[in-house]
Amino acid sequence: MRIYLNGSWIDSAGATVSVEDRGFLFADGIYEVLRFYGGRLFLADPHLKRMQRGLEAIRIDPATARDLLDIGERLIDENGFRADDGIIYAQITRGAAPRRHAFPDPGTPATLYVTAKAHPQPPPASFADGVAAITLPDTRWGRCDIKSIALLPNVLANQAAHEAGAFEAVFVRDGVLIEGSHSNLMGVVDGVLVTYPECNYILGGITRRFVLDVARELDIPVREGPLFADRIDRIQELFLTGTTTEVMPITRLDDRAIGGGRPGAVARRLQQAYREAASGRAPAMARTGMDSPRRPR
Ligand code: PDD
Repeated sequence: MRIYLNGSWIDSAGATVSVEDRGFLFADGIYEVLRFYGGRLFLADPHLKRMQRGLEAIRIDPATARDLLDIGERLIDENGFRADDGIIYAQITRGAAPRRHAFPDPGTPATLYVTAKAHPQPPPASFADGVAAITLPDTRWGRCDIKSIALLPNVLANQAAHEAGAFEAVFVRDGVLIEGSHSNLMGVVDGVLVTYPECNYILGGITRRFVLDVARELDIPVREGPLFADRIDRIQELFLTGTTTEVMPITRLDDRAIGGGRPGAVARRLQQAYREAASGRAPAMARTGMDSPRRPR
């Protein structure tokens, strides 16, 4: 596999990062995950902008990510993925320097690492029939809007889901279902699509924003507000959104069936709209203005 590391295009087998890298020592960095479908980057611009906002928030020069989309395009070419579906993973850390908590000396170059990989899809049956999720208390920090590479609570939560035979863990904060360990959460209550508002307690998902825009296009009523954990009986549908998760119905939460154990009509419509946009067939994408189709290099 060909990867990009600090200005070099190399085989992943020969790629090394210093043991003094602050990503390794402090998880001092930002990451981003983008999708490509049929070799075409999907929703690329908002991903780049979010990464640059994250860099700014942790005081790494946002220009470090400037060439991200071109690097992604070249990796799709170099790895022969022009007809394939997959993901671009990008990570930027504060670079390598002797360990101390305060920032390294000015001029220490950031570390930039980018890969392109085929993406193992969850089985199609999951999209069609839905998946199980568990709930867990949210033990994360107060800046979940920053896509930090420090993901230990997310890792532990997702592992707990795995061990429970579930697809995802949903974090509960102050009695509210807020998001998954690696996805956002949406529900339908009284026919209204409800999802936690964008704030410091969740990641502002690119897929979340796209799906909300599409829902409005489809005249599905939308409210950015709470889904209460003690009112699951009122929730008609639940689903996850995310770059790797797409639109994934939840049909079981802990030991309760959601929507009679079947994906609901809203999730299905949004799944279909997502698929059409991802495959480049849908006008929805152009209408939302989130994606300006990029010309492959
Ligand atoms: N995760 N919330 C969390 C905590 C996430 O980690 C993610 C994405 C999302 C969905 O965001 P988006 O729609 O922009 O992918 C929400 C990525 C895919 C990951 O960690 O692999």
